[in-house]
Amino acid sequence: MTLVYAGVVSHGPGITGRAHLVENTQERDRLYAALDKQRQEIEDSGAEVLVVVAAEHFANFFMDNMPAFCIGIGEKHEGPIEDPDWLGIPKTVIKGAPDLALEMTKEIMQTVDVAFAEEWKCDHGIMVPLHFLNPDGRMRVIPVNINCQGPPLTPLSRAWAFGEALRRACDLSEEKVALIGTGGISHWPATPDSGKINEAWDREFLERLMRQDRDALLSYTDEETYADGGQGGFEIRTYIAAAAAARGRGDLQFYTAQLPIFAVGCTVARFALEETA
Ligand SMILES: [Fe+2]
Repeated sequence: MTLVYAGVVSHGPGITGRAHLVENTQERDRLYAALDKQRQEIEDSGAEVLVVVAAEHFANFFMDNMPAFCIGIGEKHEGPIEDPDWLGIPKTVIKGAPDLALEMTKEIMQTVDVAFAEEWKCDHGIMVPLHFLNPDGRMRVIPVNINCQGPPLTPLSRAWAFGEALRRACDLSEEKVALIGTGGISHWPATPDSGKINEAWDREFLERLMRQDRDALLSYTDEETYADGGQGGFEIRTYIAAAAAARGRGDLQFYTAQLPIFAVGCTVARFALEETA
């Protein structure tokens, strides 16, 4: 088994960019401590490569050409695309893992029609997790995208199938691979409702996720998600893919809805890794 870690994490740009505006600094620092614990656990797993299953925000793909899934197979990736001062993360070049990414793409293609890209620009959806989890650039990074932005969105059942395919591909690797899903849960970014968090909806989703309740996870309709979790809620696809890759139960290590300046309920969780069938 070469998948050595699987978890999920939030990526709101405020987590880094608006850190100085937080009133509840105690809660913010609890979040940062949970993120540092996640970084340590990934390091302890011996992971050499980090697969980031993200929901990008029109950084690479737009409505002229919107893949349901895409893997970054380049030698390097650049980011952030946002103003570094606004995001609180300097522009950097991230080491890719082209050989492994290509092999993974070939394997995933056996069951899921995944696109691939030699060029990839990372927005906050990848840069915020990397800022906390790969601060020294030790791990090479494979960016992955699921279409959570441009309808028709990738069906949840296909996000699950993609997670299973990712797992198969990771396990064929001779390198140790960590996988992180990064997205919502409920949030309304770039709308007048930005800062709103539906904690009850978040917690219900996380319960389903932690107990690996596939049927309950895949039962959300996009209409329900939009009503209860906002357009940011569509990013649950990344968490669902991570759960499908891991197969084991989850451990919710941190969640808070008490940092509205970050405009998202902030989550840190990891999954046990069960053997695949
Ligand atoms: Fe996002």
